[in-house]
Amino acid sequence: MDKVLLNNLTAQYGDAFYILDTRRFRANVCELKKAFSEIYENFGIAYSYKTNYTPKLCKVIDEMGGYAEVVSDMEAEIALRVGVDPQKIIWNGPYKNYAKVEELLLRGATVNLDSAYEIEEIREIAQRHPKATLNVGIRVNFDIGDGVVSRFGFDIGSADFRAALRLVTETENLHLIGIQCHFATRRLETWHPRAERMVALLDELGLVPEHIDLGGGLFGKMADSLKAQFDSYIPTYDEYAQAVAPVFAERYRKCAEKPLLLVEPGSALVGDCMKFASRVVNIKEVRGKSIATVLGSIYNINPTLNKKNPPLEVVTMGEMQKEYTDLDFGGFTCIESDYLYRHFNGKLAKGDIVIFGNAGSYSVVLKPPFILPNFPIIEITAEGAELVKRGETFDDLFHTFVF
Ligand SMILES: Cc1ncc(COP(=O)(O)O)c(C=O)c1O
Repeated sequence: MDKVLLNNLTAQYGDAFYILDTRRFRANVCELKKAFSEIYENFGIAYSYKTNYTPKLCKVIDEMGGYAEVVSDMEAEIALRVGVDPQKIIWNGPYKNYAKVEELLLRGATVNLDSAYEIEEIREIAQRHPKATLNVGIRVNFDIGDGVVSRFGFDIGSADFRAALRLVTETENLHLIGIQCHFATRRLETWHPRAERMVALLDELGLVPEHIDLGGGLFGKMADSLKAQFDSYIPTYDEYAQAVAPVFAERYRKCAEKPLLLVEPGSALVGDCMKFASRVVNIKEVRGKSIATVLGSIYNINPTLNKKNPPLEVVTMGEMQKEYTDLDFGGFTCIESDYLYRHFNGKLAKGDIVIFGNAGSYSVVLKPPFILPNFPIIEITAEGAELVKRGETFDDLFHTFVF
């Protein structure tokens, strides 16, 4: 990013915008796929739409042979509009709109049951369509030693799990396509237990399903400055693959039809594929503290408010810079704690553009309509800048209110 390019971009798109890098996204998908499939060939990626459902990214995953992992009818609709074959849609999530579930099931999608309330819904759909074969999976929940009691999926020791299993295996037109689990903990040491316990569970049940889905919860790539702010080691794709893929390679070595091993990464693929550029609108001193205000907010880049400083680049745009120590970058909202980056040391001037890295996951999808609508997303290609999402307008946000 240099001054000339940024001058052109700000003239066209305004003083704040996201920069998407789908080439990097493709490279991440390839690398993750290679890491696992070198050890266990029948491997696939189901991209977690909720993490960043920019249709351009959803299209890339589809073109690269991946699945769409969705958790709502809204996300299922994105997949359909992007042109994903319904058979490549996997619907998880603790709440499902069963009118849309019925439509998706009839079109061949996979629906993973999460809770007991879904058993009756599925039974009724199966009864209404006796001639259709419906692909149903079951989300399971067990202890992986991460100290978290997850609220997702059926406890494998519960009567509800046995009831769900009975329904899906004993109903003629329901096809138990797979078993899924998802644990949010990203630590490497939690991945081997996921794999071992899934295989042990399937063996106990005497099942070899088409899909074994280990969910998401992988760390992605990041600069060392960001890695240093986590209290656990940040593994590589290869290390995750080595923790789980050999378990499946060994267990299904002699199987003619090996199950498809799926993971559902979101952050791991997209975190480093978006940056956020914003103009410094002011620099002030308050009782000896330097504070720069930018046209952006923590809600643009990190609405989960995890207090981590993203990788940061300052591009000088021509005003005379000054050296600052312990400067904080504050946002446009009126929230006192709205800081995008704290304790910056370096040169800065009003009018400079600050680029915050690792803004790809849980950013654009979680930005609230607070104070300002969201900024455009662009991608820089060999042909120039391409608009991926235009900036939101007043009408985008307010046409649902009654004035
Ligand atoms: C079912 C499921 N799969 C995948 C993901 C993606 O997780 P992450 O982006 O944290 O890896 C999530 C996140 O909440 C999820 O709930």
